[in-house]
Amino acid sequence: MVQTLTVLGLESSCDDTAAAVVRHGENGAEVLSSIVQGQNELHSAFGGVVPEIAARAHAEKLDTCVMQALEEAGLALSDMDAIAVTAGPGLIGGVMSGVMCAKGISAATGLPLIGVNHLAGHALTPRLTDGIAFPYLMLLVSGGHCQYLIAHGPDHFTRLGGTIDDAPGEAFDKTARLLGLPQPGGPSVEAEARAGDPTRFRFPRPLLDRPGCDLSFSGLKTALMRMRDQVVAEKGGLTRQDRADLCAGFQQAVVDTLAEKTRRAMDLYLNENPAEPVIAVAGGVAANSAIRSALETACDEKGGRFTAPPLALCTDNAAMIAYAGIERFRTGARDGLDLTARPRWPLDHTSPAMLGSGKKGAKA
Ligand code: KG4
Ligand code: ZN
Repeated sequence: MVQTLTVLGLESSCDDTAAAVVRHGENGAEVLSSIVQGQNELHSAFGGVVPEIAARAHAEKLDTCVMQALEEAGLALSDMDAIAVTAGPGLIGGVMSGVMCAKGISAATGLPLIGVNHLAGHALTPRLTDGIAFPYLMLLVSGGHCQYLIAHGPDHFTRLGGTIDDAPGEAFDKTARLLGLPQPGGPSVEAEARAGDPTRFRFPRPLLDRPGCDLSFSGLKTALMRMRDQVVAEKGGLTRQDRADLCAGFQQAVVDTLAEKTRRAMDLYLNENPAEPVIAVAGGVAANSAIRSALETACDEKGGRFTAPPLALCTDNAAMIAYAGIERFRTGARDGLDLTARPRWPLDHTSPAMLGSGKKGAKA
């Protein structure tokens, strides 16, 4: 008999302020409400997320988000069994805003507090949406993350590889910026690429010559800049077709690289888990139809089942945090009011630390 649990989740690690209520019981999980308030308009003039602006906006919006999430679920705080909050990794000011808000609610109501790793939220989403059983292979591809993980349990992940520099979403965003296309770059580059010839410009396929499933995307941006400058030098500017061909060539390089590295990750995963292989993908970049279908094909070739959560649960949201909180709650995990916000928090403690900072702060 599985005890039914209802948990309020909070997310504020980057530029989305979010609150959600999730219930989980005998018949699986149900998202009772999921409120996401984006901050695009606050950051658009700066060409990227400004951490201090993000933190202030989270502090201002979290309480209304919580009230909306409860109202939409038709529940009160007294109906909750616990409160789960992203405690890292991410932009530290935003993470602190969420943690402080959750601590306040916990102190005022006595609700147990559970700190959740944002990446675990993404990585456990296939269990929330499709009830996928452990273990499974997970690819996180977003503006801030890119890694292959084997999910063994709510707190147990093995990192098989990931980007050594930019995340793919970051590369799409930078490509859009270099070509004067609107942000977020992913959807604009994908739309342009539809009318483009992916073979006109020859982009590199980074790290395919090296074994393993680490990835690199920062070289693609440099290649694009060089090709763009060459066309501009020859013709005095870019035509619509030049832009489309550049986008198509760039996107094809990302598609080919992710497909090949996914095949390798699948081989590594199958070595250890031969029965009923499942690969799940999450993150905003999974919205790209060329990438999605290449991953699906790579998965089919290896005899695996492919699953991708609906887009609203692929991108940053608080339902995944509430759900990950439920999974942790069931293992007996509880945090006290000494819960700290962590800018860097790798899911696999044994994997080497990533260097540098990305859109979401320190790389995890
Ligand atoms: O998961 P998400 O909402 O936030 C992060 O955790 O970063 O992902 C946002 C990223 C952005 O970089 C955006 O350009 C990218 O996902 N993205 C896409 C597409 N839609 C969103 N990238 C490629 N193709 C798309 N259709
Ligand atoms: Zn995320």
